[in-house]
Amino acid sequence: MGVTHLLPKKVLMWREEGKDEVPFGNRVERLETGPKRPAIAVRDARKGFSQNSGGRLDVLDGIDLDVAAGEFLAILGPSGCGKSTLLNVLARVEVLDSGRVEYNLDAENGAKGRIAVAWQEESLMPWKTVHKNIEFPLIATNSAKTERKDRVERWIAAVGLNGFADYYPSQLSQGMRKRVSLAAALVSEPDLLLMDEPFSALDPYTKRQIEKEVVRLWESLDTTIILVTHDVQEAVALADRIVVLTARPATVKSVRDNPLPRPRDLDALYGQTEFHEIVRELWLHLTVGHNEAAP
Ligand SMILES: Nc1ncnc2c1ncn2[C@@H]1O[C@H](COP(=O)(O)OP(=O)(O)OP(=O)(O)O)[C@@H](O)[C@H]1O
Ligand SMILES: [Mg+2]
Repeated sequence: MGVTHLLPKKVLMWREEGKDEVPFGNRVERLETGPKRPAIAVRDARKGFSQNSGGRLDVLDGIDLDVAAGEFLAILGPSGCGKSTLLNVLARVEVLDSGRVEYNLDAENGAKGRIAVAWQEESLMPWKTVHKNIEFPLIATNSAKTERKDRVERWIAAVGLNGFADYYPSQLSQGMRKRVSLAAALVSEPDLLLMDEPFSALDPYTKRQIEKEVVRLWESLDTTIILVTHDVQEAVALADRIVVLTARPATVKSVRDNPLPRPRDLDALYGQTEFHEIVRELWLHLTVGHNEAAP
């Protein structure tokens, strides 16, 4: 599923904030396709925080972003620029100072959609076992008991935690706890899945396995995914589009359509020249002006 059919083949395209397209290499071409049904529209989103010193810290400085239904979007940007703040706003746990976010998550029910978040910080309930932590979102959605059991067991297996269902978070390693958090976010098969560096504490093998599960989930459902990551390769391997934010206060520096076709074999992808070319160009783009970034 997803929006593969909307995306250009063999086309690299950047849209720079306040500028015309900036070509990279000689493969640039305009493609007049757009999202059929925006799942999320962010308009002039502004957000700041009060500082302990008494001043105000501007974090989001007028973010504009459209996310198509069923799209897999990655967000990259310097540490501290406001990625988690933006994700918290989208998850409705932070409120904007000004601007707005419009949701249209469910084709039938409009804005009413399930949103799940894999937080950057640990978010497990320490008094519940692995099984109970993963099951919790399903209880909230009133799923039948046998269906809950099947789904929890499937996700325990998917994140490589067979045999640990009865363990408590304190009895697990950091990477294992991260995997439980991911399973708890994914188990409800949400309409919108927000992920904040979800794979960062994982070993390479587990990371790849879970990435594949996420892609499988995304392909089999009409889930819209927004992934915040520092990992350029991960963004290129997984996403349809890649948004780069500026240093704080964050604005959208560029939006890139990812030309890699789907379905993608993640194992094979890492050996492909085109993949590495895109990663390289993205790295160059990210590092341009890096030294001029605000502290
Ligand atoms: N609740 C808060 N109160 C005060 N300041 C905050 C709060 N949350 C975030 N900030 C500040 O907002 C800025 C952006 O933080 P945020 O966590 O969004 O960055 P980030 O891009 O996710 O960084 P990283 O890549 O390191 O996770 C930081 O300077 C941070 O100190
Ligand atoms: Mg963050």
